[in-house]
Amino acid sequence: MAKKEIPVSFFDAYEVPRYGKMILLQPSGTLLPAGYKKFANDIYNFEYRKDDICLFTYPKSGTTWTAEIIWAMTHINEMQRALTENLNNRYFFIDNDFFHDLNEDEYMERLKAKKPDAKQEDGPILQLTALETERRYIWSHLPFDLQNPDVLDKCKVVYVLRHPKDNMFSRYQHFSKVVDVSLPIIFETFMSDHTAYGNYWHHVGEAWKRRDHPNLHIMYYEDMKEDIMAELKKLNEFLGTKLNAEQLKKVAEHTSFENMKANPSMVLDIEGFKGSFFYKGQVGASKGQLPPEFDARMDAWIKENAAKIDPAFKYAS
Ligand code: PPS
Repeated sequence: MAKKEIPVSFFDAYEVPRYGKMILLQPSGTLLPAGYKKFANDIYNFEYRKDDICLFTYPKSGTTWTAEIIWAMTHINEMQRALTENLNNRYFFIDNDFFHDLNEDEYMERLKAKKPDAKQEDGPILQLTALETERRYIWSHLPFDLQNPDVLDKCKVVYVLRHPKDNMFSRYQHFSKVVDVSLPIIFETFMSDHTAYGNYWHHVGEAWKRRDHPNLHIMYYEDMKEDIMAELKKLNEFLGTKLNAEQLKKVAEHTSFENMKANPSMVLDIEGFKGSFFYKGQVGASKGQLPPEFDARMDAWIKENAAKIDPAFKYAS
């Protein structure tokens, strides 16, 4: 089948620490490392399969937590593997081909075993994903408009949201570990139209538009914190995993914040950082941490933008 051309224009943007040259995609305003351009059409045309499970999120929304939950639910009798096998080896993090946050040598080695003439510049993760013969667990922070437009017709997708204030604060906690960056810089870029992975409202708006599709399951970090069992039951239904209450309880326990933080396979070993990106894992973690003028600006920004998505949108009030 002929490849679809991704309907975006690319513009050179500024350089950022760690990721280097960035490009701006229009009309969405999504900012990504310049290397994305090479993979844009491959990702846009990526062939999903019926049994794939995708997890698409705006970064810092609870991706890792949900990824572990989905994996545990679909591997209920072998959950122990999660204690030794890094999550990034159980999922295909396709964005890594242009973000280069994971050690690619390891993925290249696996790829070469399957395809000896494979080239690193063609993206080890996307190639490995395409070559996988078992069920695939795929995660990406790219918004829906940069994913294959047919993805929801092909497989199940879970999308997780988190309140923008906590999301921004978690982003600050993350980046302050790997680059020299201040809270005001993270705050201003988060509030701008042009930030890594694009504006929050663009990202969630793209998911919201598709909310009635039966293959899309939207979850909220806050709901998960409030009543994880209720959320697991809904996910059980969506994924068709048919777990009983006792098994769901096991999943909840395995994926509690404390257990996940203590799990050695959650340690990220990336250039310039080895450790955990878990900060507090709480709702309202940003409370009292922002200068009052930031708090007020963000409240107004949330009110205005949430209402534009839908007056009934969770974070609108
Ligand atoms: S990333 O880097 O974009 O993939 O980050 P992401 O996983 O989306 O989000 C990281 C935040 O999720 C918190 N987290 C959890 N919260 C509750 N329970 C569990 N089990 C859990 N696992 C991860 C993690 O601590 C980050 O939030 P903050 O507020 O920074 O602690």
